[in-house]
Amino acid sequence: MAAAFAPSTTLRLRPYSTLRCLSFYPKNLTKPYPVFPPLIRRSPISPRRLFSSVISGALHSGERTKSELAEKQMGEMGSKVGEFRKKLKIVDVKGGPNEGLDRVGQMIVVAGWVRTLRAQSSVTFIEVNDGSCLSNMQCVMTSDAEGYDQVKSGLITTGASIWIQGNVVPSQGSKQKVELKVNKIVLVGKSDPSYPIQKKRVSREFLRTKAHLRPRTNTFGAVARVRNALAYATHKFFQENGFIWISSPIITASDCEGAGEQFCVTTLIPSSREAAESPVDAIPKTKDGLIDWSQDFFEKPAFLTVSGQLNAETYATALSNVYTFGPTFRAENSNTSRHLAEFWMIEPELAFADLKDDMACATAYLQYVVRYILDNCKEDMDFFNTWIEKGIIDRLSTVAERDFVQLSYTDAIELLIKAKKKFEFPVKWGCDLQSEHERYLTEEAFGGCPVIVSDYPKEIKAFYMRQNDDGRTVAAMDMLVPQIGELIGGSQREERLEYLEGRLDELKLNRDSYWWYLDLRHYGSVPHAGFGLGFERLVQFATGVENIRDAIPFPRTPGSVEF
Ligand code: 4AD
Ligand code: MG
Repeated sequence: MAAAFAPSTTLRLRPYSTLRCLSFYPKNLTKPYPVFPPLIRRSPISPRRLFSSVISGALHSGERTKSELAEKQMGEMGSKVGEFRKKLKIVDVKGGPNEGLDRVGQMIVVAGWVRTLRAQSSVTFIEVNDGSCLSNMQCVMTSDAEGYDQVKSGLITTGASIWIQGNVVPSQGSKQKVELKVNKIVLVGKSDPSYPIQKKRVSREFLRTKAHLRPRTNTFGAVARVRNALAYATHKFFQENGFIWISSPIITASDCEGAGEQFCVTTLIPSSREAAESPVDAIPKTKDGLIDWSQDFFEKPAFLTVSGQLNAETYATALSNVYTFGPTFRAENSNTSRHLAEFWMIEPELAFADLKDDMACATAYLQYVVRYILDNCKEDMDFFNTWIEKGIIDRLSTVAERDFVQLSYTDAIELLIKAKKKFEFPVKWGCDLQSEHERYLTEEAFGGCPVIVSDYPKEIKAFYMRQNDDGRTVAAMDMLVPQIGELIGGSQREERLEYLEGRLDELKLNRDSYWWYLDLRHYGSVPHAGFGLGFERLVQFATGVENIRDAIPFPRTPGSVEF
């Protein structure tokens, strides 16, 4: 259990909450503070006071000096980074090398939300969670603790936020090494008895209707931490390997995948405030009765991007290796467990590279992030292994070590035709692989190993993929993994101007709309390749959650945009 927790969390500075956590100004501060000067100067809260003392001061007027003094006497509460106080979290206590025993005797503060409260005749046990790790802090309280009256009068219930100061002591129970002997408790925000997340287990379908409260459950807390670790590992992998992160635009005039699945971005329809009462004929029209886009915000049709790839290519053909990591949007009406209307994509783009380099990069990246969470999210991964998908740790460990299978589309089709399995969608050369085919290949034909299928028929792939010499296939690759099917889609790009123009014409795509993309082939064109990985599918793959709606904080799917 020693390494059972992620290393201390990275700092996430939000100006307002940072301001509230500020503890001390350096005494000799003469120049304005360089990071948040205006906020600090305008703050009505004395920067010398701690957030916690503000809370207890508010709740126990007249006790401010006492509580400030108590805090000064307090043992370690956290560490300071510049003027930012990084508060001590439960993970810092229980995630240490001996699960908190090294802190026995220290007076600490824990602030979080009540998971359970058990009152026995002489002691009350409160399980508090602050989201920093799966484990709660067990707080043990007797009637002599300051603030006990709030417990006695039933004010402190599941879901309430509390601030507790206490001594770390060895735990009597077998579930944890240490617990907190409460010295003082402050109710920060009480919780109404209607709080929907009580101790009994509730379905994930139900929790989707409570997306604002579900991060307070074990499952969604763990998914959020692993998702965060995957994002961190993604940046780490690419940064360590010489890639530059590029912010590709969210609003675009081009359709990268050419599938016509874009959400329109327009101001021709009135703003959200007026939308409900807007008449259809308020939209300006041309003489021919078409929508007059020249009167729209961008003076032409604009959409939410389906992929940052085309823009990434422009930077790859200048900075060599780049990647994007941002939200993408698809208006496809797919109500499946692996489709979202809004999802995050990671899209590396490599210059002076071919399809083989692309496949090697995708493999190395996936293995790196999988290894990263196995090494750094042990407690959460153990949780998934027990409660979400038995055997997931073994499955991922194999992925991190094993060579992936590579085969051509043509060979994959042959394999599927020979399979003794009845598929809903019949298989023949030229058909697009459906999820059932993809899952058969990776789960059954290759025993759970990720499979990279390459060289697809050009008819079923996007215009930008490089034509192979056979004239009928393109240098495309999809990485298929168990449970999910397609996790990654990538290709070598068509770097030859005449081929690219020819393909645009064949697909009846307007060359003029792609003028800047074609320019890359006019000026110093190079062989280049890249891929896109759907981040929520990666989260599914890495945590075992079956439905993609549980792999993103606020899922957007057809008919669902609450929260
Ligand atoms: O295969 P796709 O459509 O490829 C592209 O967008 C390329 N431009 C990528 C590139 O070469 N730079 O999408 C890439 C990945 C898929 O493999 C899948 O994991 C994910 O994006 N994806 C979705 N994830 C969730 N919901 C959806 N509706 C998705 N559509 C694609
Ligand atoms: Mg694809």
